[in-house]
Amino acid sequence: MSRIVVIGSGIAGLFAALRLDEAGHDVVIITKQRPKDSSTNWAQGGIAGILDKTDGEGKDAHISDTLAAGDGLCDETVVRLVVEEAGDRIRDLLKAGVQFEKDGEEFHFVKEGGHTARRILHAKDATGAEIERALTEAVSKSDKITMRPHTLGVDLIQRQHGDPSKGIKGIWCLCLDSGEMEAISADAVLIATGGCGQLWERTTNPSVATGDGLAMALRAGAASKDMAFFQFHPTALMGNNKKPFLITEALRGEGGVLLDSKGLKKYRNSNLQPQELSFTLEFSKDGSLATRDVVARACDQKMKITGEDNVWLVTDHLDTQILHDHFPTIEGRLNKIGLSLGRDPLPVAPAAHYMVGGLKVDIDGRVLMENGEAMPGLYGIGEVACTGMHGANRLASNSLLEAVVFANKASEHFINNPIDDIEDVPEWRAEGMLELEEHAPLIRDLETLRKTMTDDVGIVRSFSRLERANRMLNLLSGEVDLIWRKSLPTRELVELRNLILVANLITDDALSRDENRGLHWNKDLI
Ligand code: SIN
Repeated sequence: MSRIVVIGSGIAGLFAALRLDEAGHDVVIITKQRPKDSSTNWAQGGIAGILDKTDGEGKDAHISDTLAAGDGLCDETVVRLVVEEAGDRIRDLLKAGVQFEKDGEEFHFVKEGGHTARRILHAKDATGAEIERALTEAVSKSDKITMRPHTLGVDLIQRQHGDPSKGIKGIWCLCLDSGEMEAISADAVLIATGGCGQLWERTTNPSVATGDGLAMALRAGAASKDMAFFQFHPTALMGNNKKPFLITEALRGEGGVLLDSKGLKKYRNSNLQPQELSFTLEFSKDGSLATRDVVARACDQKMKITGEDNVWLVTDHLDTQILHDHFPTIEGRLNKIGLSLGRDPLPVAPAAHYMVGGLKVDIDGRVLMENGEAMPGLYGIGEVACTGMHGANRLASNSLLEAVVFANKASEHFINNPIDDIEDVPEWRAEGMLELEEHAPLIRDLETLRKTMTDDVGIVRSFSRLERANRMLNLLSGEVDLIWRKSLPTRELVELRNLILVANLITDDALSRDENRGLHWNKDLI
């Protein structure tokens, strides 16, 4: 039987591990912090999908909403496949112990931006945490799956150094508890490391989202796709601390409305309904529930015009019992800062949320090289991968679905085409390397990187700002490279090196585009 290393412990990594385990393979999951420190665990909204396989109309509507949100760049074959498989994969999740919200005997569905129907299964407003709970429990019951927390993947080991076409035979890791490097051999590696929201100053992502898997695969010869499309979530709570808290789009699905200060004042002093007063209507007839690219841009533009740090999400016209029952996590968080759901306008602003581009993969989740061929023994699943499902802008709650469908596809591909060829792997080249004496320069460089991405590679871009970012990134890249070549790896160094590489890809892809589409918006192209 084979040994597979899975990097990452969100929905994609855990689901794939369970599938491979069922087929009798040994799996080692390496994860940078605790298993639950994943973007999945932070997901609030839910998982979109039509459960009833015979509901052709429902599936067609899901397909057309996904294609519309993707603004003409989705791969329709992939969209159809994912929507078609949704029912089976969601049933797999139920079998694994995930408990979605029910209304009596029936599942309760919510709606989010860009969806024309209620088709999102959820577990109140903490869907990701419920999925993570059930899957980590299931994984912990297997004696063929080894969970390695506090283990940071640093670089992939090629079967033949310098020749990606020969494939991957393992990974070098940094054990964060001991500070030691370790080489782990594998027949295949599945990358499920999520995104890179930590590139921006304001993000809804956990601290682990530093683009590690993407960067290590690129260094090993993989190709990336559509990196310019990075999704900002329109409604992250503005607090006085720097860590924004997501306010799920499902709240707007229940009727929450975005207002600017002028609209809020008018709402308070008139009998008008908030929907009629939303600035988002200037951008789309769907108002606060338009697709995420449109709503985030509308918020960004309004904030620039008013000079304010936020817009407002109002919910006081909604049924307080429904809000209380469906959004307990948000309610609890608001109460901690003296705000009340269903009473107070909530100060919200966009924050970096989801990497739509990523590793170029095929329909089986195999990572592709620049020549379009698959790299043997390497798979990319979940947010790290660009399958074509999301096009230029992801439809809300399609990401957990895509992750679980492609985790299944990649596992099936390996099970049907197993590699059983463990080779010796070389130790990390530590000779002559010194312990990093000072981390302060890295911390300053990280601050500069985040500032650059926030100011110059945000929701609205321009050629001059992108070029400025490019120059800054080249400088940072040179600095970090100097340190890298003479130092033993530390978490800070590995992450910064990865983030800079990914930032470069995003900026280069944005600079190369000559049209505005979905999430890429360059004001020089209007
Ligand atoms: C949300 O709950 O608003 C986020 C859902 C998603 O990103 O798909």
